[in-house]
Amino acid sequence: MSNPFPFQTLNEVETPFYYYNMQLLDTTLETIKREADKYGYHIHYAVKANANQRILERVHSYGFGADCVSGNEVIASLAAGFPSDKIVFAGVGKADKEIIVGLENNIGCFNVESIPELEVIDEIAKRMNKTAKVALRINPNVQANTHKYITTGLEENKFGIYIWDLEKVLDKVDQLNNIEFVGIHFHIGSQINDLDSFKQLCTRVNELQERFVKRRNIPRIVNVGGGLGVDYENPDENPMPDFEKFFGIFDDFLDLQEGQEVHFELGRSVVCQCGTLLSKVLYVKDGVHTQFAIVDAGMSDLIRPALYQAYHKIENQTSHKEEYKYDVVGPICESSDCFGKAVTLPKTERGDLIAIRSAGAYGEVMANQYNLRELPKAVYSDLI
Ligand code: LLP
Repeated sequence: MSNPFPFQTLNEVETPFYYYNMQLLDTTLETIKREADKYGYHIHYAVKANANQRILERVHSYGFGADCVSGNEVIASLAAGFPSDKIVFAGVGKADKEIIVGLENNIGCFNVESIPELEVIDEIAKRMNKTAKVALRINPNVQANTHKYITTGLEENKFGIYIWDLEKVLDKVDQLNNIEFVGIHFHIGSQINDLDSFKQLCTRVNELQERFVKRRNIPRIVNVGGGLGVDYENPDENPMPDFEKFFGIFDDFLDLQEGQEVHFELGRSVVCQCGTLLSKVLYVKDGVHTQFAIVDAGMSDLIRPALYQAYHKIENQTSHKEEYKYDVVGPICESSDCFGKAVTLPKTERGDLIAIRSAGAYGEVMANQYNLRELPKAVYSDLI
């Protein structure tokens, strides 16, 4: 399954812009649905990966829920059609007004990360004469082999309730009248390609479940988060991760109690490969050690290379000449505004169309207006 670029059409569009291959998104969503349905698993799409309204609508059309981390993500998900009972609201720092948005809309559950947060949600729910459904996010202390900025399930991270505090938190839940305990929640990190990390998570969840059995307080929902990685090096060869294997791990290793539902919060693996940032070469300039291809997209459009030294495959869609090495850089006044160093490209000239691949997740949604630049536009394969 290739990622077809209708080059003739795209070459006419003003750059930079995100191009979404909606056919690939459909195939990915169909695959996730088919593989998750085998085990009756529930999928919540992690809106933070890409909150573009058309993408949200398409994800919703497959019957998935939404995993939100702000009041505005809750509102955007509702606007895209996600039913409120399939919306979960996570995040370590929910503001009062965001909690109110969740309660007003009777969302499926709040993923709660601390006792002070539980108390605030209870107090606000009481004022509004509501009961807040709550899942406890537990820090499983599982090492995910990924970038240090995007690992979240270790004790030193700010996320979740420590395992040793669990009984204290459950006692608190019992005391609060406007809180209904519905589930437990875990998330170990993002861009995880070593599936053993998910096996370890299952083992940790199984150990913890025994503590709930002892208290005769079995959570209905076991939410194992997201984090499945994608192949940034070979987006054409691997346009989606091995969902069959991924869900199979949970089926093999997770011990469930009677009546429990398993929930996932997948973001990157859903939308990453369907998105490409397209940009044009403004200038090619000789440096001391290298040649610079200066393009019209910058770190304001796609911040991942600058922020995480993330690799994105870069292609020249116009030229087929002999190959050279280029540092592909943007126009922003920061040395870190660089998409790739010593990238092998066919001889590159002003006006060439440059594709920066695997940009559908944490791309457009992290764009900003630094240097007072315009936000990037979006073009969809099914609308051209
Ligand atoms: N659930 C929770 C609680 C999360 O914190 C995240 C991502 C997800 C689900 C979705 O994870 P995914 O399936 O997308 O890996 N901006 C970074 C990634 C940050 C991930 C934050 N949390 C990047 O560009 O790599």
